[in-house]
Amino acid sequence: MDKFYITTPIYYVNDAPHIGHAYTSIACDVLARYWRLRGRKVFFLTGTDEHGKKVAQSAQQQQKEPQKFVDEVSQKFKTLNETLNISADDFIRTTQERHKKAALAFWTQLHARGFIEKGVYRGWYHINDEQYVGVDDVTLKNGKAFNDKGDELELIEEESFFFKLSQLQQPLLDHYSKNKDAIFPKTRYEEVMRFIEGGLKDLSISRQNLTWGIKVGEGHVMYVWVDALTNYLSALGYPDTHDEFWPADIHVIGKDILRFHAVYWVAMLLACDLPLPKKIIAHGWWTNEGEKISKSKGNVIDPFILTEEWGRDAVRYFLLRAMPFGNDGDFSPQAMRHRIEGDLSNGVGNLCQRILRFIERQCEGKMPTKPQSLTSQDEQLIAQAQALPAQTETALLQAGFFQTLEHVTRLMTETDRFIDHHAPWQLKKSDPARMNDVLWVTMQSLAHIMSALMPFMPDAMTSLRHQLGMNNNFDPLEPCASLREGGAPLPKPQALFPRYESDR
Ligand code: MSP
Repeated sequence: MDKFYITTPIYYVNDAPHIGHAYTSIACDVLARYWRLRGRKVFFLTGTDEHGKKVAQSAQQQQKEPQKFVDEVSQKFKTLNETLNISADDFIRTTQERHKKAALAFWTQLHARGFIEKGVYRGWYHINDEQYVGVDDVTLKNGKAFNDKGDELELIEEESFFFKLSQLQQPLLDHYSKNKDAIFPKTRYEEVMRFIEGGLKDLSISRQNLTWGIKVGEGHVMYVWVDALTNYLSALGYPDTHDEFWPADIHVIGKDILRFHAVYWVAMLLACDLPLPKKIIAHGWWTNEGEKISKSKGNVIDPFILTEEWGRDAVRYFLLRAMPFGNDGDFSPQAMRHRIEGDLSNGVGNLCQRILRFIERQCEGKMPTKPQSLTSQDEQLIAQAQALPAQTETALLQAGFFQTLEHVTRLMTETDRFIDHHAPWQLKKSDPARMNDVLWVTMQSLAHIMSALMPFMPDAMTSLRHQLGMNNNFDPLEPCASLREGGAPLPKPQALFPRYESDR
């Protein structure tokens, strides 16, 4: 069976989850759910990044043992998955033995292949990003050093193991010249190409003055990014059983961590002669009413509170409907309310209620029968509905969540118009046969809407699927084939978004 391996970044446990983490996980979840529906063998991985100086400092600030601290915060990320209905197949933690073993095996491979050598690192380090900063990107002020974001940097001078990244510049360029779709969106691909073309220096991959991490010998601890990136292999049982799912079909990441994935990670895989990820998709950043989200500004958007307030389907829908996936977006409660009212309660919720309640009350709750013939208007709506599976697949192959939802909205609007125009409530008396046909056509449309929205809003769409009388093994390419025969009873209609819809 065709496999599909998709990953989120593993989240730092220095702090509680926020909307940015939720966003990445939801996007992956939609793709995982979509490809499961399409019959692929999916492995969807997420987890937590638990080593490094930043995490160690946060534990210290809370006067907790690092392990106890990371256990607690990691649990919050697991709970977030339940809260948001994230259907991950595995949750990797970098403090797990299975991960440490795999990360060390990977390190040993790099070493055995001659890509690790000892040297001295003298330069700047940004603790919050766990990143080395080159001299060109450092500003000195009053005896202190700052990066371009104005964050203070620390100076490091110590013995370190280096990964011979410079030797992989040409292989990386060759790879990306041949695989122009390996990074999405295009602007990010170009950004990576420019960075590689600018010249790659060897990368310091171990630290001496750090204890909270994986020990690699001679008093060194693995650089947290090397440790973290290997999670994508360790969860698959590297070096023994990774072949079933490796390479990753998609690594979904935020644009801020593109270089680590598209350059460092891919270079390390090249060095170990392992297959390369097929695609890296970098999404944009959320701001809060125009401001960068940060704890110090006190404007962090808590996904638990958001879900409590709006419901998980609505949060999932809003985040992916707000802007195309590579773009930045600005969060505002007003925009969220507007979307939920417009697209969910007054949109798909209302449309389904209108049709299904009408069938319940005026047609004895029975599935309409297949028309003898269709009018051109019927055919038009059916053609638009039948186009949805291909539109969805084309869009989702390019992380087009926003575009998929736009296609659905268009179909919904047309279906609404169709109902208004044909007014089945009037046909009931004047032409019951035509009323049946109109309802049958709209049921086709609802089956397609349900199918396309299923990965986005699994709770509401499972309810809709049930109300349409369909079981869960429908084919998303041909959902109407699973509708019931004409005359078969349909389940009792229910509100799809009960917290927003009154029972009409
Ligand atoms: N631990 C590293 C990843 C290691 S992967 C081998 C890390 N963790 S993180 O917790 O800081 O970020 C995880 C993800 O959340 C990133 O993809 C990042 O882009 C995303 N977001 C963090 N803040 C965000 C927003 N404000 N908006 C959107 N996503 C952002 O980096």
